[in-house]
Amino acid sequence: MKSIASKEFRLWCERRGRRLAPLFLLLAFMPAACVNVENAAPSVPRITGAANTSLLQHGREIYVSKCTECHSVRRTSKYSAAEWPNIVDDMGERAKLSPSEEHAVLTYVLAARTVPPVKK
Ligand code: HEC
Repeated sequence: MKSIASKEFRLWCERRGRRLAPLFLLLAFMPAACVNVENAAPSVPRITGAANTSLLQHGREIYVSKCTECHSVRRTSKYSAAEWPNIVDDMGERAKLSPSEEHAVLTYVLAARTVPPVKK
């Protein structure tokens, strides 16, 4: 009786384990993924000397949502202050942003692009 119970328990664990495996994998990779997003699109509290944090917050929210509909979140530091206005103009149209949303995104990326990366 006891051996049947333990066998069933083992089988249950195996089935459970297989079903939970993707979850464990996800948990293992999540911190790395967070660091990647944090480096690509630094969160607003890490932007030092920011005057209008609510505008920056609004811009970041759009940047990590509407600007990731077609591709992954782009590293803000990858493009210069001279390049960003044209990119936001072009991409803002594709993301169907209003002029004020484009303004928020541009303000955010220009402030975020100089934030130093966090270590993994
Ligand atoms: C409708 C799909 C779509 C949306 C929405 C979108 N993009 Fe893009 N993005 C693309 C494609 C496709 C490319 C590849 C290059 C190209 O076609 O110009 C690209 C390229 C880029 C590049 C690289 C440009 C370069 O010259 O190397 C950046 C930066 C970028 N997108 C930022 C953004 C931002 C910021 C937003 C939000 C305002 C956004 N994207 C929204 C489709 C999109």
